[in-house]
This record gives sequence, C-alpha cells and structure tokens, in this order.
Amino acid sequence: MRLKLIGAALLLGLAGCQGASSNPEAGLIDGNKGGDWTGYGNTYGEQHFSPLDQVKAENVGNLGLAWSYDLPAGNPMSGPIAVNGVLYTATGYSVVRAFDAPTGKLLWELDLKGAENAGLKLREGWGIRGLAWWNGKVIVGVQDGRLVAIDGKSGKQVWSAMTVGKDDWRFITSAPRVFDGKVIIGHGGADSSATRGYVTTYDAETGKKLWRFYMVPGKPGTKDGEVYDPIMEEAAKTWTGDWWKHGGGGTAWNTFTYDKETDTILIGTGNGAPWNQRVRSPGGGDNLFLCSIVALDAKTGKHKWHYQFNPGETWDYNAAMDMQLADLVIDGKPRKVVMEAPKNGYFYVIDRTSGKLISAEPYVPVTWATGIDLATGRPKEVPQARYANGSDFTLAPGPNGSHTWLPSAFSPRTNLMYMPIAQMSWSYNDRGIDPKTWKFSGYNEVQTAVNVADKVVSGSRLAAIDPVTHKEKWSVSTPGAWNGGVLATGGNLVFQGDSAGHFSAYDAQDGKKLWSFDAKVPVLAPPISYSANGKQYVTVITGVGTSAGILSSKVAMRVNYRTQARRVLTFVLDGKAVLPATPAPEFTYQADPTFKPDPASAARGAKPFVRCFVCHAAPGISAGSAPEFAASSVPQSAETFRQIVKGGMLKANGMPQFDELSDQDVEDLRQYIRTETRKVYLAQPAAKGK
Ligand code: HEC
Repeated sequence: MRLKLIGAALLLGLAGCQGASSNPEAGLIDGNKGGDWTGYGNTYGEQHFSPLDQVKAENVGNLGLAWSYDLPAGNPMSGPIAVNGVLYTATGYSVVRAFDAPTGKLLWELDLKGAENAGLKLREGWGIRGLAWWNGKVIVGVQDGRLVAIDGKSGKQVWSAMTVGKDDWRFITSAPRVFDGKVIIGHGGADSSATRGYVTTYDAETGKKLWRFYMVPGKPGTKDGEVYDPIMEEAAKTWTGDWWKHGGGGTAWNTFTYDKETDTILIGTGNGAPWNQRVRSPGGGDNLFLCSIVALDAKTGKHKWHYQFNPGETWDYNAAMDMQLADLVIDGKPRKVVMEAPKNGYFYVIDRTSGKLISAEPYVPVTWATGIDLATGRPKEVPQARYANGSDFTLAPGPNGSHTWLPSAFSPRTNLMYMPIAQMSWSYNDRGIDPKTWKFSGYNEVQTAVNVADKVVSGSRLAAIDPVTHKEKWSVSTPGAWNGGVLATGGNLVFQGDSAGHFSAYDAQDGKKLWSFDAKVPVLAPPISYSANGKQYVTVITGVGTSAGILSSKVAMRVNYRTQARRVLTFVLDGKAVLPATPAPEFTYQADPTFKPDPASAARGAKPFVRCFVCHAAPGISAGSAPEFAASSVPQSAETFRQIVKGGMLKANGMPQFDELSDQDVEDLRQYIRTETRKVYLAQPAAKGK
C-alpha cells in the first residue's frame, strides 16, 4: 500500500515535471495534464474547472484543513495558481508568495512595493486579482502599472515592464494571461478619469513589448498603437462629439481568454468613460468597442471580430467579466463557443470562430431590454432605459449585479455553467448634469455623469445554468448581496465561498450542499484545485478587499479590518489542521468627548468624503476593505489625521495620499467623519442619552 502510494506520487510528480520542461503550455491547453492549476481560470479556455476527482461527492465530507497561512492586511481577493507542487499567491498591491503546497511552508516572498509606487493609481485600491505562469516564471501585474515576471524557484525578479503612463490614472488589477509565449495585460481607470482603454502584449520570456490594441478610437486624424489597425477608423464612425476628451473608456480590466485552435485572443471590454453616453458621445452611436468581446489575432494584434453586448452603453454595463470557451452541441450540431454573462443580466453564448450570437437569455429580472434579437445580435432596448429628459429609470440589474468579476465555472462533465449571481437594482437619472460642460474633475471619486440612488438588493445565489437551453438546473441562495468565485471539479463538485464566511461544496448535478467550512471571514475569491504528491488539494484565499467591501452597504458579515485575518486556506481529504482563533468582528465605537458639532464644515466635508467611501464605506458599515472610521480614534487628532490623509503616512499599507486637499478640506473631512461617527455611537443601545 505504502509502496503504491509512493509510486503513484512519483509518477504524478514526474508527469508534472515533464509537462513543465518539455512544453510550457501543457497545463494551459489541457487541464487534464499534470494536475496543475496553471492560469487564473486554470486553462486557456478559463473554465475554472479542474478534472481531478480524488475528492468527490462520496468523500468530500472528509475534506479538512491541510494548513492555513495568515496574510497581512491588504486586498486578499485573488486567485492563486499551483505548478509542480508549489502554490503561488499574489495579494495586496502586490506581494507574491510561494508555498510548498502539501505543507504550507513558505518558500519565498517578494514584495513588489505596489502601494508605495502607485501614487494616484492607488486611489481605486483594488489590488491584484491573480497571476499567470510561463515556463518557470510567475507573472503578475502590480497596482502601479508594472508587469513583472518572477523566477518560480528563487523568487527573484526576471523582468519588469511598465505598461501604463507614469502619471495617468491607469492601474492594473487583473491577472495577466499568457498565450503562446506572450503575456497580455490591460488596466482600469475609466470610472475616475478620462481614460482610453488598451491592452498590451509582451514576450513572456523577456518582457519585450510586442503589440498594443486600443479598445476605443482616439482623436480623429491621429494614429496610435504599435500595430495600427484600420478597424479604428471604422470604430470612430460609431462615436460622436469630442469623445476623446473624456477618454472613451472600454478598459480591459479583468478578463482575457485564448483560443489556441484559431490563435485568437478574446478580450472583455469595460464601460464608457463616463458612463452617461449623452456626455461622452452626445449624438449617440454604438461606441465600439465598449462592452464587447473583441477577438484579435494573437500574433499580430489585428482585429478579427467583435460582439458588442450593449451598443451605446450608458449604464456601466461593462463586459469585462469571465469568458469560458467550450464545445457544445446546439441544435444537433457541434459548436465552438465562448460564453459570457456581463453585468447586463443576460447570459450569452457566441460562436467563437465568427463572433455570431447563438443565444442570449436573462438569468435575473431585467428592466432595460425585453430581449436580444438573435438575427442582429442587438438588444431590444426599452426606450426609457436611457433616462432621457431628466427622467428616472429603475435599472435592473444595477452595475454591481447581476454577475461581475468573481468568476463562474463551467464543467465539461455536466455541461453546466455555475454562476455567482447578485440581484440588485438602481435608480438612474442625469438631472443637473450638463453634457456640454461636464468633465472628469481629476480626483478619484467614481465619476459617472449619472445620479445613481436607491440601490435595492434582493439577494444572491449560486445557479447552475445549462448554456444550451438556458434552463436553470438548480440554484442555492447565499447570504448577502454578493457571493464568491466558483470552482467546478471532475469529482462532480462545485466549490464556492460566501459573504457570511462559509466555504462550501455542492453536488454539481443537483446543488445539494455536501460540505461546508466556517472560515470566520467572508470567502469571495475564486478557489482552485490541483494535485501534489498524489493528493488533491483545494485552496482559497479568504477575506475582503477591492470594491467588494462596499459594493453593497448590506454586507452579510461585518469585518474588522485590523483584527480579522485574511488567510490562505488549503484543504485535503482527512486534513486535520485547525484554523487559528479569529476574533469576532467587534467594534468599540468612539465616544469622542471633545467633539464640537460644526454643521457647515461637516456639510463641506461630505463632498471629498466620496473619495474615501470607495474603501472605507460610511462610518458604521465596517465592510472590511479599510478601517472602520466609527471605531477609529485617529479622526480625533487633527495632526495624525492630516499626516495620514494629506501626508501619505500610511501609503505603504494601501492608504492613498490626498495631497491636493487643502488643510481646510482635511479639517472639513475630519468634521464630517466625526459627525457621522457620533451618529453611529449614539445609535448603540448602550449609548442612548450620552
Ligand atoms: C484605496 C482605498 C482607500 C481610500 C480611497 C481611502 N483610504 Fe483611508 N485607509 C485605507 C487603508 C487600507 C487604511 C489602513 C492603512 C493601515 O493599515 O495602516 C486606511 C487608513 C486610514 C486612516 C487611519 C485609520 C486608523 O484607524 O488607523 C484614516 C484616518 C483614513 N484612512 C482616512 C481616509 C480618508 C479621509 C480618505 C478619503 C479622503 C481615505 N482614507 C481614503 C484605504 C483607503
């Protein structure tokens, strides 16, 4: 028995090594090889599926913790990779770590000092979401815009390339993807500044820049991009006015999928900058290539085809969400498809050889359209959806739901898509916004040129959807407004975490909950599964970061940024490790005895507070991406507060520097925070009358 085990382990180890040395693509092409998890979504097709089946419905009840590792503060919502028995994580802004997968022993750690160097780019401090692997190298994008390759063995930097302008607002938040010896990266920034989206590819061995493709056209008459594509002139015909002054948007901030058979790289593009089309492109137009899948020739970066989900987008319905490739039988014919559920509430199945729409059906209540015309591929929009003439429109889904960047998983065993779904609606209008004069202010608040309000959250669920029939085979409701990224496995299991701290395994066929682990903090990052020494492991990183903390003010679980650990958790059959003690999310709200109300100052401070909300949320919410103001004594000290906010004292820890604020602005902010904190303090039952 023992011998057999060692033999099996040896064999597996060998298979893994051979794969890595002879063909660096083996795991990316076929997830069945080697038992590694080689890219963000495992393979080129990004299915978030592992064929491993040692852990299965019959024994998942015995799944236990193999080891855990406490991470320091900073964004933990990131997908790891595992190659040849080594687990790699990228968290914060970004710190890369390598662990011996079976034991959890830290092999090396490299801090790329992303927060320190990010400047303005830190203000949407989403941090890193994952990493890529190529031929012995781990590749990560850093918040400050660097793309860095690291030797997987030694942890030493191999090359670094700056992918964005030093002082622009572009920042990296996605996992890079490798394809055919190249690595591709995009950027974010279109919600806060006049940003024109692009993607760039680099030689994965050397970091040499290969080609760049802009996602929206620039100023007419100007040609840019290392490989200029005449398709940009076609795209420009779908824009009106002086759109380039607003950047246009279309940032590819999250997702790329590679079709090896046709050597095509697919890019999911983001929303318009700003959201409101009347400001960006006042005469209308489709505004290519916003909210689209754009297919480029992987060698040259030349446009092959595109499919636009939301022509003339005006809602932040961005389509930078996970895209899975699959081979399906539809109407009796084998079809090569790419599938995506962008934010707009429809789930699309598209022929990936031509870009032609095959089917699209809603999976949540939708108010902006009555359907998608399969002949033209265009949505049948409800006229009121564009909130024209000062009218209000209740938009469902809102831009935080229905499905955003936490990835779905597709199982080629069940042919089902397992999707994390949030149900929310928002109210939109643009009263008081003058399209002629509106422009980005140059500060970090999310600037949309839309008044959005009355966010209504109606819950979240994990659903198994058949992409051929669009029938929902099963669904389970999950706590809170958001739930985690998904993993499907060959053991007929689906793994997902939730906002209330459970990490669970479901039967892939019927959704029955088979196993659950109390992680004590929200589990939202995508899990992975891989084998090492002949055993199957499941790893997930716990804790809250990015915008997930504030995306819903109705969080299922409050999180104390200072005391509740973010962790790497690794599970194995019969694992016996015990989670270290985790304090409950308790808060001591500040009494603030020296506080003197100054309503005028507090009212002024409410405006710049928009720049803080994105990470800290309102006092009393405690969403977990930054400290809770109502429980902090810092706002009581003018000097400490000023040094942190204006002086950049905590920059290295992810607290951006706001040096453009005047001393008076800082004081007004402090007054606003103390005023709101006072309300939270007084609302506690014990504090009544104080
Ligand atoms: C990109 C996310 C982000 C934004 C935006 C942001 N903060 Fe922070 N802030 C942080 C993080 C992370 C920390 C914790 C740093 C640490 O660990 O020391 C922090 C810490 C602080 C602290 C210290 C709290 C304590 O108890 O130690 C203050 C005060 C503060 N921020 C004020 C502000 C104000 C005011 C704004 C808006 C002008 C703002 N922050 C915007 C992320 C952010």
